[in-house]
Amino acid sequence: MKNLIILSLLGLVFGSALFGADNSRWIRPADVPVPKDNKITPERVKLGKYLYFDTRLSKNDSVSCATCHSPFTAWADKNDKAIGVYNRQGTRNSPTILNSAYNLRQFWDGRVKTLEQQALGPIQANVEMDMNLTVLIEKLKNIRGYVKLFKSAYGDEGITKDTLAKAIASFERSVVSKGSPFDRFIRGDKTAISKKAQEGFKLFSGKARCNLCHDKFNFTDGSFHNIALGDSDIGRYAMKKRPAWYHAFKTPTLRNIAKSSPYFHDGSVKTLVEATTICANGGRFKNDKKKSLYMIDNHISADEIELIVAFLQTLSEESLDINIPDKFPQ
Ligand code: HEC
Ligand code: HEC
Repeated sequence: MKNLIILSLLGLVFGSALFGADNSRWIRPADVPVPKDNKITPERVKLGKYLYFDTRLSKNDSVSCATCHSPFTAWADKNDKAIGVYNRQGTRNSPTILNSAYNLRQFWDGRVKTLEQQALGPIQANVEMDMNLTVLIEKLKNIRGYVKLFKSAYGDEGITKDTLAKAIASFERSVVSKGSPFDRFIRGDKTAISKKAQEGFKLFSGKARCNLCHDKFNFTDGSFHNIALGDSDIGRYAMKKRPAWYHAFKTPTLRNIAKSSPYFHDGSVKTLVEATTICANGGRFKNDKKKSLYMIDNHISADEIELIVAFLQTLSEESLDINIPDKFPQ
Protein backbone atom coordinates (compact mmCIF):
# COMPACT_ATOMS: atom_id res chain seq x y z
CA MET A 1 0.00 0.00 0.00
CA LYS A 2 2.77 2.37 1.06
CA ASN A 3 4.63 1.61 -2.15
CA LEU A 4 1.52 2.26 -4.15
CA ILE A 5 1.12 5.68 -2.58
CA ILE A 6 4.76 6.50 -3.28
CA LEU A 7 4.40 5.27 -6.84
CA SER A 8 1.33 7.35 -7.50
CA LEU A 9 2.99 10.38 -5.91
CA LEU A 10 5.98 9.88 -8.20
CA GLY A 11 3.56 9.55 -11.09
CA LEU A 12 2.02 12.88 -10.17
CA VAL A 13 5.39 14.63 -10.02
CA PHE A 14 6.70 13.23 -13.29
CA GLY A 15 3.33 13.42 -14.95
CA SER A 16 2.99 17.12 -14.32
CA ALA A 17 6.58 17.75 -15.43
CA LEU A 18 5.97 15.81 -18.63
CA PHE A 19 2.68 17.39 -19.53
CA GLY A 20 3.70 20.83 -18.42
CA ALA A 21 0.89 21.16 -15.89
CA ASP A 22 3.20 23.24 -13.72
CA ASN A 23 3.03 26.63 -15.37
CA SER A 24 4.24 28.61 -12.39
CA ARG A 25 7.38 29.83 -14.20
CA TRP A 26 5.14 31.92 -16.48
CA ILE A 27 3.18 33.55 -13.64
CA ARG A 28 4.33 36.77 -12.00
CA PRO A 29 5.23 36.27 -8.33
CA ALA A 30 2.76 38.37 -6.32
CA ASP A 31 5.56 39.83 -4.20
CA VAL A 32 7.59 42.60 -5.77
CA PRO A 33 11.20 42.62 -4.50
CA VAL A 34 11.73 45.61 -2.20
CA PRO A 35 14.94 46.76 -0.47
CA LYS A 36 14.93 46.73 3.33
CA ASP A 37 15.47 50.47 3.62
CA ASN A 38 12.65 51.45 1.27
CA LYS A 39 9.51 49.53 2.15
CA ILE A 40 6.54 50.29 -0.08
CA THR A 41 3.87 52.52 1.45
CA PRO A 42 0.95 54.24 -0.32
CA GLU A 43 2.48 57.64 0.58
CA ARG A 44 5.76 56.77 -1.13
CA VAL A 45 4.06 55.46 -4.27
CA LYS A 46 1.86 58.56 -4.44
CA LEU A 47 4.84 60.91 -4.10
CA GLY A 48 6.88 58.88 -6.59
CA LYS A 49 4.07 59.06 -9.12
CA TYR A 50 3.95 62.85 -9.01
CA LEU A 51 7.73 63.02 -9.41
CA TYR A 52 7.67 60.52 -12.29
CA PHE A 53 5.19 62.59 -14.30
CA ASP A 54 6.45 66.06 -13.29
CA THR A 55 8.35 67.89 -16.05
CA ARG A 56 9.71 70.36 -13.46
CA LEU A 57 12.36 67.74 -12.69
CA SER A 58 14.09 68.69 -15.97
CA LYS A 59 16.26 71.68 -16.78
CA ASN A 60 13.66 73.57 -18.83
CA ASP A 61 10.49 72.09 -17.32
CA SER A 62 9.78 70.12 -20.51
CA VAL A 63 10.68 66.50 -19.91
CA SER A 64 9.60 63.96 -17.28
CA CYS A 65 10.37 60.27 -16.88
CA ALA A 66 7.05 59.66 -18.63
CA THR A 67 8.23 61.51 -21.75
CA CYS A 68 10.32 58.45 -22.58
CA HIS A 69 8.53 55.84 -20.47
CA SER A 70 4.87 56.65 -21.10
CA PRO A 71 2.01 54.39 -20.02
CA PHE A 72 0.40 55.12 -23.42
CA THR A 73 3.31 53.55 -25.28
CA ALA A 74 3.82 50.48 -23.09
CA TRP A 75 5.94 52.48 -20.61
CA ALA A 76 8.50 53.17 -23.35
CA ASP A 77 8.36 55.62 -26.30
CA LYS A 78 8.07 55.68 -30.06
CA ASN A 79 11.52 57.07 -30.91
CA ASP A 80 14.29 54.87 -32.30
CA LYS A 81 16.65 56.57 -29.89
CA ALA A 82 15.45 58.55 -26.87
CA ILE A 83 14.92 62.31 -27.20
CA GLY A 84 15.31 64.51 -24.11
CA VAL A 85 15.53 68.23 -23.29
CA TYR A 86 16.15 70.66 -26.18
CA ASN A 87 15.46 67.71 -28.54
CA ARG A 88 18.81 66.19 -27.73
CA GLN A 89 19.00 62.61 -28.92
CA GLY A 90 20.68 59.83 -26.95
CA THR A 91 22.27 56.68 -28.33
CA ARG A 92 19.81 54.02 -27.22
CA ASN A 93 16.14 53.06 -27.39
CA SER A 94 14.05 53.62 -24.25
CA PRO A 95 13.21 50.29 -22.62
CA THR A 96 9.89 49.78 -20.87
CA ILE A 97 9.83 50.28 -17.10
CA LEU A 98 7.03 47.70 -16.75
CA ASN A 99 8.29 45.02 -14.32
CA SER A 100 11.65 46.80 -13.95
CA ALA A 101 11.17 46.07 -10.23
CA TYR A 102 12.07 42.48 -11.03
CA ASN A 103 15.21 43.30 -13.06
CA LEU A 104 18.43 41.88 -11.67
CA ARG A 105 20.20 44.80 -13.33
CA GLN A 106 19.02 48.05 -14.90
CA PHE A 107 19.90 49.53 -18.35
CA TRP A 108 20.70 47.71 -21.58
CA ASP A 109 24.23 47.16 -20.31
CA GLY A 110 23.23 46.41 -16.71
CA ARG A 111 25.40 49.18 -15.31
CA VAL A 112 23.40 49.52 -12.08
CA LYS A 113 21.40 47.07 -10.02
CA THR A 114 18.59 48.81 -8.17
CA LEU A 115 15.87 51.24 -9.19
CA GLU A 116 17.15 53.61 -6.50
CA GLN A 117 20.60 53.66 -8.13
CA GLN A 118 18.99 54.08 -11.53
CA ALA A 119 16.58 56.95 -10.83
CA LEU A 120 19.03 59.85 -10.46
CA GLY A 121 20.88 58.98 -13.69
CA PRO A 122 18.32 60.27 -16.23
CA ILE A 123 17.58 63.41 -14.18
CA GLN A 124 21.21 64.48 -14.58
CA ALA A 125 21.98 63.06 -18.04
CA ASN A 126 22.64 65.78 -20.57
CA VAL A 127 20.52 64.10 -23.27
CA GLU A 128 17.63 63.29 -20.94
CA MET A 129 16.59 65.82 -18.26
CA ASP A 130 19.93 67.64 -17.79
CA MET A 131 19.10 68.80 -14.26
CA ASN A 132 21.65 69.58 -11.57
CA LEU A 133 20.63 67.60 -8.47
CA THR A 134 21.52 70.30 -5.93
CA VAL A 135 19.45 72.79 -7.90
CA LEU A 136 16.59 70.29 -8.13
CA ILE A 137 16.53 69.57 -4.38
CA GLU A 138 16.32 73.34 -3.68
CA LYS A 139 13.58 73.67 -6.31
CA LEU A 140 11.52 70.90 -4.68
CA LYS A 141 12.03 72.37 -1.20
CA ASN A 142 10.39 75.54 -2.46
CA ILE A 143 7.26 73.70 -3.58
CA ARG A 144 5.09 73.47 -0.46
CA GLY A 145 3.05 70.56 -1.78
CA TYR A 146 6.20 68.46 -2.20
CA VAL A 147 7.51 69.37 1.28
CA LYS A 148 4.29 67.91 2.70
CA LEU A 149 4.35 64.80 0.50
CA PHE A 150 8.00 64.03 1.33
CA LYS A 151 7.22 64.53 5.02
CA SER A 152 4.38 62.01 4.96
CA ALA A 153 6.42 59.54 2.87
CA TYR A 154 9.84 59.77 4.51
CA GLY A 155 9.25 61.66 7.79
CA ASP A 156 12.18 63.67 9.08
CA GLU A 157 14.51 62.51 6.28
CA GLY A 158 12.95 65.34 4.25
CA ILE A 159 13.83 66.14 0.65
CA THR A 160 17.23 64.68 -0.27
CA LYS A 161 18.77 62.94 -3.28
CA ASP A 162 18.22 59.72 -1.39
CA THR A 163 14.51 60.18 -0.72
CA LEU A 164 13.98 61.52 -4.26
CA ALA A 165 15.41 58.30 -5.71
CA LYS A 166 13.54 56.14 -3.21
CA ALA A 167 10.18 57.73 -3.98
CA ILE A 168 10.57 57.32 -7.75
CA ALA A 169 11.68 53.70 -7.25
CA SER A 170 8.63 53.05 -5.05
CA PHE A 171 6.32 54.26 -7.80
CA GLU A 172 8.11 52.10 -10.38
CA ARG A 173 7.56 49.06 -8.15
CA SER A 174 3.84 49.61 -8.60
CA VAL A 175 4.20 49.42 -12.39
CA VAL A 176 4.03 45.66 -12.82
CA SER A 177 2.07 43.52 -15.24
CA LYS A 178 -1.46 42.94 -14.00
CA GLY A 179 -2.88 40.69 -16.68
CA SER A 180 -2.87 39.82 -20.38
CA PRO A 181 -4.74 37.21 -22.44
CA PHE A 182 -1.65 34.99 -22.09
CA ASP A 183 -1.92 35.19 -18.29
CA ARG A 184 -5.51 34.02 -18.41
CA PHE A 185 -4.46 31.20 -20.75
CA ILE A 186 -1.58 30.02 -18.59
CA ARG A 187 -3.86 29.97 -15.55
CA GLY A 188 -6.11 27.52 -17.34
CA ASP A 189 -8.53 29.42 -19.61
CA LYS A 190 -7.76 27.61 -22.87
CA THR A 191 -9.99 29.97 -24.85
CA ALA A 192 -8.15 33.12 -23.74
CA ILE A 193 -5.81 33.03 -26.75
CA SER A 194 -6.29 31.78 -30.31
CA LYS A 195 -5.14 28.37 -31.53
CA LYS A 196 -2.53 30.15 -33.65
CA ALA A 197 -1.15 31.91 -30.57
CA GLN A 198 -1.06 28.58 -28.71
CA GLU A 199 0.95 27.08 -31.57
CA GLY A 200 3.20 30.12 -31.38
CA PHE A 201 3.79 29.61 -27.67
CA LYS A 202 4.78 25.98 -28.38
CA LEU A 203 7.30 27.15 -30.96
CA PHE A 204 8.52 29.89 -28.61
CA SER A 205 9.41 27.42 -25.90
CA GLY A 206 10.20 24.56 -28.28
CA LYS A 207 11.63 24.55 -31.79
CA ALA A 208 12.46 28.27 -31.86
CA ARG A 209 14.15 28.14 -28.46
CA CYS A 210 13.26 31.75 -27.57
CA ASN A 211 13.12 30.75 -23.92
CA LEU A 212 16.84 30.04 -23.86
CA CYS A 213 16.95 33.77 -23.17
CA HIS A 214 13.36 35.06 -22.84
CA ASP A 215 12.41 32.90 -19.90
CA LYS A 216 9.99 33.01 -16.94
CA PHE A 217 7.03 35.34 -16.33
CA ASN A 218 8.88 38.43 -17.50
CA PHE A 219 10.38 36.67 -20.52
CA THR A 220 13.97 37.46 -19.61
CA ASP A 221 16.86 35.52 -18.11
CA GLY A 222 18.26 38.78 -16.74
CA SER A 223 21.48 38.11 -18.64
CA PHE A 224 23.25 39.70 -21.61
CA HIS A 225 23.62 38.37 -25.14
CA ASN A 226 25.11 39.43 -28.44
CA ILE A 227 22.46 38.80 -31.07
CA ALA A 228 24.70 40.03 -33.90
CA LEU A 229 22.97 43.29 -34.75
CA GLY A 230 26.26 44.63 -36.08
CA ASP A 231 26.13 48.23 -34.81
CA SER A 232 28.99 50.03 -33.09
CA ASP A 233 27.65 49.94 -29.50
CA ILE A 234 29.70 47.36 -27.54
CA GLY A 235 27.07 47.06 -24.79
CA ARG A 236 27.96 45.30 -21.55
CA TYR A 237 31.59 44.87 -22.66
CA ALA A 238 32.12 48.52 -21.75
CA MET A 239 31.32 47.59 -18.13
CA LYS A 240 33.21 44.32 -17.94
CA LYS A 241 35.67 42.96 -20.46
CA ARG A 242 34.31 39.42 -20.62
CA PRO A 243 34.48 38.04 -24.17
CA ALA A 244 30.84 36.88 -23.98
CA TRP A 245 29.79 40.45 -23.31
CA TYR A 246 31.15 41.98 -26.48
CA HIS A 247 28.14 43.71 -28.10
CA ALA A 248 25.92 41.99 -25.50
CA PHE A 249 22.73 43.65 -24.26
CA LYS A 250 20.24 42.72 -21.58
CA THR A 251 17.51 40.35 -22.68
CA PRO A 252 14.46 42.65 -22.63
CA THR A 253 11.05 41.64 -21.33
CA LEU A 254 8.53 40.71 -24.02
CA ARG A 255 5.51 41.86 -22.02
CA ASN A 256 3.53 44.52 -23.90
CA ILE A 257 5.93 43.93 -26.79
CA ALA A 258 3.32 44.48 -29.53
CA LYS A 259 2.93 48.03 -28.23
CA SER A 260 6.58 48.99 -27.82
CA SER A 261 7.98 49.31 -31.33
CA PRO A 262 10.68 50.23 -32.34
CA TYR A 263 12.77 47.32 -31.14
CA PHE A 264 16.29 46.50 -29.91
CA HIS A 265 18.76 48.69 -28.02
CA ASP A 266 19.28 50.83 -31.11
CA GLY A 267 15.62 50.98 -32.15
CA SER A 268 16.66 49.67 -35.56
CA VAL A 269 13.67 47.41 -36.16
CA LYS A 270 10.04 48.52 -36.58
CA THR A 271 8.05 45.30 -36.74
CA LEU A 272 7.64 42.25 -34.52
CA VAL A 273 7.95 40.00 -37.56
CA GLU A 274 11.40 41.36 -38.33
CA ALA A 275 12.57 41.30 -34.68
CA THR A 276 11.35 37.71 -34.31
CA THR A 277 12.97 36.63 -37.57
CA ILE A 278 16.32 38.06 -36.44
CA CYS A 279 16.09 36.34 -33.04
CA ALA A 280 14.79 33.01 -34.38
CA ASN A 281 17.23 32.50 -37.18
CA GLY A 282 20.65 33.23 -35.80
CA GLY A 283 20.81 37.02 -35.48
CA ARG A 284 21.09 39.78 -38.10
CA PHE A 285 24.61 38.80 -39.12
CA LYS A 286 24.42 35.02 -38.82
CA ASN A 287 28.13 34.46 -39.40
CA ASP A 288 29.20 36.81 -36.62
CA LYS A 289 31.78 34.69 -34.74
CA LYS A 290 31.29 36.61 -31.50
CA LYS A 291 27.52 36.18 -31.21
CA SER A 292 25.88 34.37 -28.28
CA LEU A 293 26.04 30.57 -28.38
CA TYR A 294 22.28 30.63 -27.87
CA MET A 295 21.69 32.72 -31.00
CA ILE A 296 21.03 29.68 -33.16
CA ASP A 297 19.62 29.50 -36.69
CA ASN A 298 16.54 27.37 -35.97
CA HIS A 299 15.31 27.57 -39.58
CA ILE A 300 11.96 28.98 -38.55
CA SER A 301 9.73 29.57 -41.59
CA ALA A 302 7.75 32.73 -42.31
CA ASP A 303 4.53 30.87 -41.37
CA GLU A 304 6.03 29.85 -38.05
CA ILE A 305 7.21 33.41 -37.40
CA GLU A 306 3.60 34.51 -37.90
CA LEU A 307 2.47 32.04 -35.21
CA ILE A 308 5.13 33.24 -32.76
CA VAL A 309 4.08 36.85 -33.40
CA ALA A 310 0.43 35.86 -32.75
CA PHE A 311 1.61 34.54 -29.38
CA LEU A 312 3.66 37.68 -28.62
CA GLN A 313 0.55 39.76 -29.23
CA THR A 314 -1.18 37.99 -26.34
CA LEU A 315 1.34 39.52 -23.92
CA SER A 316 -0.28 42.96 -24.07
CA GLU A 317 -1.74 44.24 -20.82
CA GLU A 318 -5.53 44.36 -20.91
CA SER A 319 -5.91 47.59 -18.98
CA LEU A 320 -3.76 50.65 -18.46
CA ASP A 321 -4.46 50.52 -14.74
CA ILE A 322 -3.26 53.98 -13.83
CA ASN A 323 -4.66 57.42 -13.12
CA ILE A 324 -2.20 59.89 -14.51
CA PRO A 325 -1.93 63.06 -12.40
CA ASP A 326 -3.37 66.13 -14.12
CA LYS A 327 -2.48 68.51 -11.27
CA PHE A 328 0.89 68.64 -9.58
CA PRO A 329 1.98 69.75 -6.08
CA GLN A 330 2.26 73.55 -5.79
C1 HEC B 1 15.08 61.17 -22.78
C2 HEC B 1 14.42 59.93 -22.51
C3 HEC B 1 14.45 59.38 -21.11
C4 HEC B 1 14.05 60.01 -19.95
C5 HEC B 1 13.57 61.41 -19.77
C6 HEC B 1 14.16 59.00 -18.91
N1 HEC B 1 14.61 57.82 -19.42
FE1 HEC B 1 14.78 56.05 -18.46
N2 HEC B 1 15.75 55.28 -20.03
C7 HEC B 1 15.94 55.91 -21.24
C8 HEC B 1 16.86 55.14 -22.04
C9 HEC B 1 17.34 55.47 -23.43
C10 HEC B 1 17.25 54.04 -21.25
C11 HEC B 1 18.26 52.96 -21.63
C12 HEC B 1 19.65 53.57 -21.45
C13 HEC B 1 20.76 52.57 -21.44
O1 HEC B 1 20.49 51.38 -21.28
O2 HEC B 1 21.91 52.97 -21.56
C14 HEC B 1 16.50 54.14 -19.99
C15 HEC B 1 16.52 53.18 -18.98
C16 HEC B 1 15.71 53.24 -17.85
C17 HEC B 1 15.50 52.17 -16.92
C18 HEC B 1 16.09 50.77 -17.00
C19 HEC B 1 15.11 49.78 -17.54
C20 HEC B 1 15.72 48.45 -17.88
O3 HEC B 1 14.99 47.52 -18.15
O4 HEC B 1 16.94 48.33 -17.89
C21 HEC B 1 14.66 52.63 -15.94
C22 HEC B 1 14.15 51.87 -14.74
C23 HEC B 1 14.37 54.00 -16.26
N3 HEC B 1 15.00 54.33 -17.46
C24 HEC B 1 13.62 54.85 -15.48
C25 HEC B 1 13.57 56.24 -15.70
C26 HEC B 1 13.12 57.20 -14.70
C27 HEC B 1 12.66 56.86 -13.31
C28 HEC B 1 13.21 58.42 -15.28
C29 HEC B 1 12.92 59.77 -14.67
C30 HEC B 1 13.67 60.11 -13.48
C31 HEC B 1 13.70 58.22 -16.65
N4 HEC B 1 13.93 56.89 -16.84
C32 HEC B 1 13.85 59.22 -17.58
C33 HEC B 1 15.34 57.07 -21.64
C34 HEC B 1 14.83 58.01 -20.76
C1 HEC C 1 20.52 34.47 -27.31
C2 HEC C 1 19.41 34.88 -26.49
C3 HEC C 1 18.11 35.16 -27.20
C4 HEC C 1 17.28 34.31 -27.89
C5 HEC C 1 17.49 32.83 -28.11
C6 HEC C 1 16.18 35.10 -28.34
N1 HEC C 1 16.33 36.39 -27.97
FE1 HEC C 1 15.09 37.93 -28.36
N2 HEC C 1 16.43 39.22 -27.60
C7 HEC C 1 17.58 38.89 -26.94
C8 HEC C 1 18.34 40.07 -26.63
C9 HEC C 1 19.67 40.12 -25.90
C10 HEC C 1 17.60 41.16 -27.13
C11 HEC C 1 18.04 42.62 -27.12
C12 HEC C 1 19.17 42.74 -28.11
C13 HEC C 1 19.67 44.11 -28.41
O1 HEC C 1 18.89 45.07 -28.43
O2 HEC C 1 20.88 44.23 -28.67
C14 HEC C 1 16.39 40.59 -27.71
C15 HEC C 1 15.36 41.34 -28.27
C16 HEC C 1 14.17 40.81 -28.70
C17 HEC C 1 13.03 41.57 -29.13
C18 HEC C 1 12.96 43.09 -29.12
C19 HEC C 1 12.59 43.54 -27.70
C20 HEC C 1 12.66 45.01 -27.44
O3 HEC C 1 12.04 45.45 -26.46
O4 HEC C 1 13.34 45.73 -28.15
C21 HEC C 1 12.05 40.69 -29.48
C22 HEC C 1 10.66 41.02 -30.00
C23 HEC C 1 12.58 39.38 -29.28
N3 HEC C 1 13.86 39.46 -28.80
C24 HEC C 1 11.89 38.20 -29.51
C25 HEC C 1 12.48 36.94 -29.52
C26 HEC C 1 11.84 35.76 -30.02
C27 HEC C 1 10.42 35.69 -30.51
C28 HEC C 1 12.76 34.74 -29.92
C29 HEC C 1 12.63 33.32 -30.42
C30 HEC C 1 12.29 33.23 -31.82
C31 HEC C 1 13.96 35.31 -29.34
N4 HEC C 1 13.75 36.64 -29.12
C32 HEC C 1 15.12 34.59 -29.08
C33 HEC C 1 18.01 37.61 -26.67
C34 HEC C 1 17.49 36.47 -27.25
